[in-house]
Amino acid sequence: MSATQASAARPGFAAVLADLGLEAGSAGAPGGTALVALDARLAGLSELRARARDAAADGWLLVHVAGAPSDADLARVRDAAWPDWHASAVYRDARGVLERRTLEGRASLAGSLEPAGAVLALRRRAAVLAPSATVAKFDRNAAGWNGEPGRPGYAHFRWMRRFVADLAGPHRARRILDFGCGAGWVGIEAALAAVARGGAPELAFFDPSPEMVRIAESNARAAGLARLVGRTGFGEEPPFPGPGEAPYDLVLSSGVVSFARDREAWFDGLARAVLEGGTLVIGDIHPGSKGMARRRREKPLLPIREMNGMRREEARAELERRGFRFECWSGYQLTDPVPQWNHLDATRLGGALGPALLAWNRRAAARSLARGGADQDRFDSWAMRLVRASAHARRE
Ligand SMILES: C[S@@+](CC[C@H](N)C(=O)[O-])C[C@H]1O[C@@H](n2cnc3c(N)ncnc32)[C@H](O)[C@@H]1O
Repeated sequence: MSATQASAARPGFAAVLADLGLEAGSAGAPGGTALVALDARLAGLSELRARARDAAADGWLLVHVAGAPSDADLARVRDAAWPDWHASAVYRDARGVLERRTLEGRASLAGSLEPAGAVLALRRRAAVLAPSATVAKFDRNAAGWNGEPGRPGYAHFRWMRRFVADLAGPHRARRILDFGCGAGWVGIEAALAAVARGGAPELAFFDPSPEMVRIAESNARAAGLARLVGRTGFGEEPPFPGPGEAPYDLVLSSGVVSFARDREAWFDGLARAVLEGGTLVIGDIHPGSKGMARRRREKPLLPIREMNGMRREEARAELERRGFRFECWSGYQLTDPVPQWNHLDATRLGGALGPALLAWNRRAAARSLARGGADQDRFDSWAMRLVRASAHARRE
């Protein structure tokens, strides 16, 4: 059986529609909701992509898979609907109970799926990455992105930010911009490096989340930095440089591009922020690492950044197209099984393994950098340094 447009009256979807607060109309799917049924062999998966693209711009895409699909089967369904749709919940009959699974956890619900199977519930990528959703998400989790001194994993968290900042090399940048600052640590480390060399840099930073900007400012002050300016905004239309302001001689963007809703506009905004001859350091997650590739194969639900993230080669090409000259790159956060051991260490071992895991990670990252960024797939993250060529050099 190929992918079929299912009737909303079909009981397979009724319990899911009710859970999502969607009323099934007599004429079919409720407004903005597309229903698709696949058989247990996933025949028709390739048609799903075209159907997903044509479905309404908002609302939900609900895909019913008959039988007992594995998580890996549902991950294939998710991949067929990406990049238009992002999977946010799985509904399954489990021992006579309807279970809803999201990234936040599991819940038991009334009702059942008939015929038995699973439903993957997907939201529009554009809705998940919408500006208001991003602000709300990071305002809510701002403290979590700041880390907690003394907790297991904190030293690792801070070391990663320092590694990215250090990639700028020895410098005395006068004006530094942290592009998507979060709690501000990458920009702060870069500014402290300039201070250590006798500089007195101005540190500018922005983030969509006002709470993140507030935390970044407080962290920067506590670190002894005085020349600070924070704003809210998105990389697609960055608030720095503002009208009449000059671009920056050092710009850092760490862990941000995987959240960009419009990659083209985001890279344009990033490129505009860098002074001619200025330095750019950019880093993010590596979707092709051993661990991330496995998660993508085995898990139907992933944070959107793992779907939206890009390889370093793509990021480099985007920047070279905008007149940047590549200087160096490195992997810096070891993949599978290090994140699992870090988690075990934090949740069960009270941080006892932390120093050894961090030392292992530092050594591996230093070796990757020294070897010109070798073994990228051993790392969950990449970072690179580029220089913005002058207009004169670009014309040549
Ligand atoms: C993973 S955190 C990284 C924060 C910080 N740069 C760091 O390395 O710790 C991602 C940050 O990017 C911000 N962000 C999300 N979408 C963005 C966008 N389109 N432009 C700029 N920043 C964005 C989020 O609010 C969040 O603070």
